[in-house]
Order: sequence, then structure tokens, then C-alpha cells
Amino acid sequence: MGVVGRDKFLILPNDVKHAKDWDRFTVVKKFAPGLNAVAVPHVKPATLKDGLEARRKLHHDKIRTSKESEMIFKQLNKASCKTYLIGSENAKEVIVVDPLLEHVNEYVSLIKNEGLKLTHVLDTHTHADHISGAGALSDLTGAVYVMHQESPVRCVAFRVPDGFDCHLSDMPVKVMHTPGHTKDSMCLIFPDRILTGDTLFLDDGGAGRTDLPGGNPGEHWESLQKIMKLPDHLIVYPAHEYRGREPSRLGEQKKRNPNLQPRTKEAYVKWLTDMQLGAADWMKDVLKANYECTRDPKAAWIPVDAPACEIKGTMSPGVNELQVPVIPVTEVRRRIKDNQLEGTMILDVREPAELGGELGAIQDVINIPVGQVTQRLHELEKYKEKEIITVCRSGGRAHTVAAILLKAGFRKVFKMNGGMAAFREAEKTT
Ligand SMILES: [Fe+2]
Repeated sequence: MGVVGRDKFLILPNDVKHAKDWDRFTVVKKFAPGLNAVAVPHVKPATLKDGLEARRKLHHDKIRTSKESEMIFKQLNKASCKTYLIGSENAKEVIVVDPLLEHVNEYVSLIKNEGLKLTHVLDTHTHADHISGAGALSDLTGAVYVMHQESPVRCVAFRVPDGFDCHLSDMPVKVMHTPGHTKDSMCLIFPDRILTGDTLFLDDGGAGRTDLPGGNPGEHWESLQKIMKLPDHLIVYPAHEYRGREPSRLGEQKKRNPNLQPRTKEAYVKWLTDMQLGAADWMKDVLKANYECTRDPKAAWIPVDAPACEIKGTMSPGVNELQVPVIPVTEVRRRIKDNQLEGTMILDVREPAELGGELGAIQDVINIPVGQVTQRLHELEKYKEKEIITVCRSGGRAHTVAAILLKAGFRKVFKMNGGMAAFREAEKTT
């Protein structure tokens, strides 16, 4: 390992197939111990002043990041998944963040037509809602595929640790590990902006859900505390925007994003746990395809532009906005007591293990976890004209399933208000 100046290193992992492309990657030694490295000239990082200058031209594709170079910054997709092209106008080199496999050929054409060279392709985390195009882009261009070191994706060429402080082309960028949505989630911090992946969305979009494989509400709270300490001037660019909200300063997000409001870790975990839906089966298929680095865009069925990664993410756009009829727990309890539930189906949409947990379950329920409902609708056909009461822990998942059933033509659907938590509370008072 060679040293440049006091503590600057170039990392060249042994197994990186495009090692020549790493000649612009400098890292601070303490964040990357034990890796093979060779000496390179250190590039002076941009200053905060440079970042402020850049912010003034936020709405342009090309903005000035320093006196010497212009930054290229462009969001490439029309749909709610966001892919960012970022680079240096002077060096004519770019990186792509969170590419979609279905658009890879378009990205390659754009980069080629602009006379640019793609040096690195990054995923902010392992995606569960779309198939990543990073592996294919790497194949087509020789760009190095970079993810956080916790990434389970097999074809990643270089895995970065928390605090990785580097230059991509001549752009300074720092990696911040922000688990919670997934174990491998990371934010990319540039002098004037932050790519937050699914760790933080915009405004009332809140943040990415924490109930997918690898998700953890407590870790997410800790990651958000790290984001709260970052400067207010950074512009937030998330990996998803489902409602056409515009990127804005982190300072504004601190004031109005519901996930950034002051809460104890315990309160945050409870708040999110009450909204957990669990991964839909198709999302598990997408994750598997991404672990395997598929180059097949049809490797998993994916609903069109569903807001699947937001909290209360659904299989179907608009489902969470639908009003559904409710039935109070007291009424359900009265009907159980008076034997008046004949002809009514109680559909418990929690995970099977929850039915054996502390809240237990109502007798004779049918259990289909929320994530499987859309693919198992045929099992419910015989109840289409009958009364269905959906049940979960506190009402969130039951609401989603009731809305899905109503949209699918089921006529008499109610959600049990307050879920099993309220059902057990009522037990104490009756
Ligand atoms: Fe995600």
C-alpha cells in the first residue's frame, strides 16, 4: 500500500476487473484498512463555497462546482424510479446512480452521444422494486460497479465502507452508510447535494419502508440522526419520487419531512411497525434477481410504476388513498359473542408467525399475508359476494388489503378498526 501526502491512498482491489478505471479514486486510509493500494496524486476536494456556488444553479443540468470544472447532473427517467447521471464537464467523465435495466441502452446512447465516458455505476442499495441495470452497464461500458460493503449483489466490483471519502472523476463524494430500508443502503454526499437512495424521500413522502428483507426501523432511526447532522444547504435527491415533488434543501426536509421530526428511537420504531406491510412476493423475486445480477428484464414480474418502496408501499398505485368501510372491534366482539358471524369471512393479513404471537388471532380466520394477497385473489373468489372483515395488528395492512379487494370487485369488505391491538384492549374493558 503506498502513501501520498499524509494519508491519501488509491484503492485497487485485487479482484477489480477494470482496475485501470480506479486512477481517480482516492480514499482516506482509515476508512479502508487492509486493501491493496498504490500511490496517486491527490486531487484537492471542492470546498463548501464551491457547493454554494453550485446550488445557485440547481435547476440547470450543468452547474459549476468549482472554478475549474462544471458538474453534469441529470435525472434520466420519466417514472418514479430516479436514475442520476453525474459527472465532470471538463473531464468528460460521468457516473450513473441507480440505473434501471430496462433503460440501459438509452443510458449508453446518451453517454456516447454526449461524448462522455462512464467510469462508475452505483446502486444506493439492493432494490426490491426494479431490476438494476448496473451489471449490464458495467458489461457494456467497462464501468466499475460500486455498492456498499454490506451489499449481497454478486457482481459488484467494489464495495465501499461507511465514510469512504473519494473522488469520482474530479468530483468529491463521501459515502454514508444508512441502513434501515436495507442493510446496504448508503447516501452519496456531494458538496452541494445528497443522493439519499430510499433512506429519505421528499416532504410527506417520508422515507423508504423498513419492512422489506434487511429492513430495520431502529437502524433507520439511527441513519436519520446521521442525516440530521448534515448541513442544511444540501439538496436532497431521492431514488424515488412518486408524486412529482421537487428536490429541495435538507434544511427544508428537516422541517417538513415526517420521518425527520423529533422522536425517540422507541417511538419511531413503534410508529413504523404499526404501518408495516411485509414484502410482496414479487418484490422478493426482484431482490433475488438483483442478488444474481440478472441481465434479463423479464426475470421478475413487476407492476407498472407502483409506489412499492414508500412506507405503506403497495402492489397497486392509489390503493392507500382509497377510503374503506370500517367495523369497530366492539361490533366484531359482539358478533362473535352472539354467534352472528356465519357467512362472514375474517381475513387476517399478518405474517403467520404473528398469529401465534402475544396478540393471538380471532378463531377461524383465514390467513393470507398482505404481500401475497394480489397473487392469491383466486382463493378468495368464493367470498366475492360475502362479507369480508380484514384484520391486522393495528389496521394499516388491513386497510391496504380491504382497498385491494374493493378494487378487485369484492362488494362487502370492511377493515377491523384498530386491528388486533384494539381487539385485545376491548377485551379488558368488556
Ligand atoms: Fe428501495
